[in-house]
Amino acid sequence: MSKSDMRRILVSGACGQIGSELTLALRERYGHENVVATGHRTKPSDKLCQSGPFEFIDVTRRETVEEVVEKYDIDTVYHLAAILSAVGEEKPHLAWEVNINGLYNILEVAREREMARVFCPSSIAVFGPETPRENTPQETVLRPRTMYGVTKVAGELLCNYYFKRFGLDVRGTRYPGIISSETLPGGGTTDYAVEIFYEAIRHQRYTCFLREDTVLPMMYMPDCIKATIDLMEADLSRLKHHADFNLAAMSFSPAELVAEIKKHIPEFTCEYQPDFRQAIADSWPRTIDDSAARQEWGWEPSYDLAAMTADMLEKLGQRIGSG
Ligand code: SER
Repeated sequence: MSKSDMRRILVSGACGQIGSELTLALRERYGHENVVATGHRTKPSDKLCQSGPFEFIDVTRRETVEEVVEKYDIDTVYHLAAILSAVGEEKPHLAWEVNINGLYNILEVAREREMARVFCPSSIAVFGPETPRENTPQETVLRPRTMYGVTKVAGELLCNYYFKRFGLDVRGTRYPGIISSETLPGGGTTDYAVEIFYEAIRHQRYTCFLREDTVLPMMYMPDCIKATIDLMEADLSRLKHHADFNLAAMSFSPAELVAEIKKHIPEFTCEYQPDFRQAIADSWPRTIDDSAARQEWGWEPSYDLAAMTADMLEKLGQRIGSG
């Protein structure tokens, strides 16, 4: 790696579902001491603490961000600290505070310090009931009904504004539901697709909070990490979009996931008791057109439903199987 590729990276939300794995991947790639993991309240795992620096920050208090950025001479931020869709409906004010004011603080610190690059994830939650639900286009109606979606649309617009107005290189993808074996997601509508694996291994049964035919876009963590790093390393001159790339890997319903898990655990059974999250899921797309990501930075997923399920059961089985 040449000197110009050297980065001093800060990851916010590093204890979260994506942050905990992305931080380790970034440390492998850019050097362990060059990637500062930061969190708010959650106690960081041993893996996170032992593999490089860790600091507490609160993204809603700009001075805590400035202090760490200054201390480590940060030039790149992966801003993953956020409140997800289900918690956002229970605590809309907190969602606004963290997702909007927190992002604004990150962007302002990055602008003032003329940082090289910022990553800020968006989500399929930017779409709403008026959006075409099949093969959802890159450019389409963005009229979400959740506070989470509202903050993500505003966040995309704000990031794109900072690029145009201040030349700050902000990039982001509209993540689908992310499935992972390391850290549980916290408070999303797609969380069932992670919980189901824990229950399938531990108790061979699960009660799903979405209807069995609710198709949603999903992605396995290795693809999520690959997409994030590939977009951040893409040649800026090739990018026509910046903070709002549609991103897809697979789409399935709870019933289809259950059928796939049954191929490995035949005795597994699932019941369905939809709750308030059903309405959120019903307002989101079923499948996504990600051709802009494919064309502009070569995006291509590796995992489909079968490959993801086999890998999840193997990884989780090793970790919690005997517990
Ligand atoms: N996985 C997220 C959620 O369910 C969507 O971005 O809130």
